[in-house]
Amino acid sequence: YPLHCLHTFGLSATAKNIIIVDDNELANVNMQAPFVILGQGSNCVFTEDYIGTIVKIELLGKQITQHSDYVEISVKAGENWHQLVVHCMQQGINGLENLALIPGTVGAAPIQNIGAYGVELQQFVDRIGFVDLTTGGSHWLSNAECQFGYRDSIFKRELSQRVLITDVVLHLPKQWQPCQHYGELRLLETPSAQDIFNKVVAVRNAKLPDPAKVGNAGSFFKNPVISQSLFEELQFKWPKMPHYAVDNRTVKIPAAWLIDTLGFKGEKRGGIQCHPTQPLVLTNDGTGTGQQLLGLAKEIQQKVIDVFSISLENEVRLIGKEGFISL
Ligand code: EPU
Repeated sequence: YPLHCLHTFGLSATAKNIIIVDDNELANVNMQAPFVILGQGSNCVFTEDYIGTIVKIELLGKQITQHSDYVEISVKAGENWHQLVVHCMQQGINGLENLALIPGTVGAAPIQNIGAYGVELQQFVDRIGFVDLTTGGSHWLSNAECQFGYRDSIFKRELSQRVLITDVVLHLPKQWQPCQHYGELRLLETPSAQDIFNKVVAVRNAKLPDPAKVGNAGSFFKNPVISQSLFEELQFKWPKMPHYAVDNRTVKIPAAWLIDTLGFKGEKRGGIQCHPTQPLVLTNDGTGTGQQLLGLAKEIQQKVIDVFSISLENEVRLIGKEGFISL
């Protein structure tokens, strides 16, 4: 089964077969390992032919319930994330505006705890519904049980390959405050949620390649978190290095700056390119191969280690012949 249309990076690869999961199918999901569960494939990259089954989630539906101090939004996993954000804005429900234009499905959002412009999904999750694929039973996890972290959750770790997320329930407080401490949002004066939404859409459209036009899966690497002591050493040599304190002992460094500083912006290896306006994103012009992608990614990773002693991890989920791989 061809995969290039099923993941936004658009590499040519195949899977053994595909199962579409919609409401009718859910009752009798019976998956033979190995398998990979896909929403819109915007954070997964298939670097070669995969020997397993693709399980494509197409569960649809959303329900909004008003409570005295919050709005509950209950959404099925196959809904499109950005369409949900737009729907909330149209209903006058604020809170998700910073997360506009993030590609992919609602069900994929908690797996990597999507985040942008100072907001993360975990701030709004009340509970996540899933089917346990080992027993077939349906269960819920509370926010705390999801063990959210930066681009991380229990679904990427202990529950990886064990559950199929079916429902995401968000609570959006009616007391709304703009979150505008990040980047260009700072310049807005007493913005409405719609103003923030518009700005986020404009910034993303200006910097990030549209996956519908050029193959990509958003940030290819995570922003590394390093020790305060390594940071102090580096800052001595690179006084302009941008940084955000995580806590007293650790500092987050924008990987985009590291890659930019090493001169990779716009670099091409075959059909794969380090994006000229946001070097954290790698793109595929349609002719790229998995080998070229892994080659460029490893080249960047190695140079960042050599020069900064920082080890970059992939943010996208890479899928090789037998399943998930890391760089
Ligand atoms: N920078 C450069 N050169 C560049 C671009 C950026 O040096 O060409 C430096 C600048 O110092 C800039 C900093 O990198 O201030 C941060 O850049 P940006 O605001 O574009 O954000 P990012 O840290 O590179 C993260 C997320 C994005 C998210 C943005 C905005 C990760 C891995 N990525 O990128 O998420 O949209 O913040 O909040 O955390 C994604 O996960 O797929 C994704 C696109």
